[in-house]
Amino acid sequence: MPVTLAAPAVAASPPPWSTSAAAQPLAPADERAQIIAGLLDEPARISPKYFYDERGSQLFEAITRLPEYYPTRTEQAVLRRHARAIAQAVGRGGVVIEPGAGSCDKARVLCRLLGATHFVGVDISADYLGGAVARLRAALPGLDARAVGGDITAAIELPGDVPQDRRLVFYPGSSIGNFDPPAALALLRQMHALAQGEGGGLLIGIDLPKDLAVLQAAYDDAAGVTAQFNRNILAHVNRLIGSDFEPGQWRHEAFFNTAASRIEMHLAACGPQQVRWPGGGRSFAAHERIHTENSYKYPLPAFLDLLTRAGFRQPQAWTDERGWYALVHVRT
Ligand code: AVI
Repeated sequence: MPVTLAAPAVAASPPPWSTSAAAQPLAPADERAQIIAGLLDEPARISPKYFYDERGSQLFEAITRLPEYYPTRTEQAVLRRHARAIAQAVGRGGVVIEPGAGSCDKARVLCRLLGATHFVGVDISADYLGGAVARLRAALPGLDARAVGGDITAAIELPGDVPQDRRLVFYPGSSIGNFDPPAALALLRQMHALAQGEGGGLLIGIDLPKDLAVLQAAYDDAAGVTAQFNRNILAHVNRLIGSDFEPGQWRHEAFFNTAASRIEMHLAACGPQQVRWPGGGRSFAAHERIHTENSYKYPLPAFLDLLTRAGFRQPQAWTDERGWYALVHVRT
């Protein structure tokens, strides 16, 4: 199993303000300001959307193949087990829209199952998505497949000629769990607006609460791939804001917060750290943490309630035999 990836070149680069540093385009000023505000917060935080640079996307793909990381294969099992019922609920043909489409592997399975006429993948990693959509077109030649680069938390603009009716927003992978509940509700409302029109709906994956040891292992795997994934966010932030984080000086921590029903991921400083970026910086004491991710595990009734508040109706849910994971279909 390919779990180790080459170290990123950025770790060895000189700080961006050194005269010998190769010119690197930083993120736009407002995005830099947002990232820096998070780093200056108490406790410091970095949005999990910054996991997914090219290396982070590859590491995430490696995570989904780990023996401990059950969500991806359990979701596939739910889709296989209930394929006929899901196709019947959604209806054949139509437009599949996938925010955060990534590799488009799941889209391929769903578009084939439904005989979809159109597919629109949306992802912040536009280059990675472009390649994936090209492979999807090759696999399903009759499908009108497009790639739209963009942040799914901002308003998504679809190409003007995408049919308005029979739109199914497909949001698998339990990624909704990476948003705090108010942000999850806002995103679901946006998906509701995107699927407006005759016969619109949403098919979404959610990870359900389960045994603590299973959860713990899934987010702190023995091979350390999740640790690499977590630390890589610092290399990405270095490129975005010109900071000089040393990823190797930060320890991966993951635990289940029972009160909030969520896995939390943090990076803890291995020793005192002084981090600089153009115009500022901050020091971290040994063991001080940066909060990088929450992954909420919703009981099904609580999630159905969130969907209702977002304007969806007529929920149908399918789970695996252990009750670990659910695929839910709702109508606009
Ligand atoms: C993308 N998302 C659903 C993953 C999750 O399980 O919350 C991200 C992840 N973080 C650590 N491992 C996987």
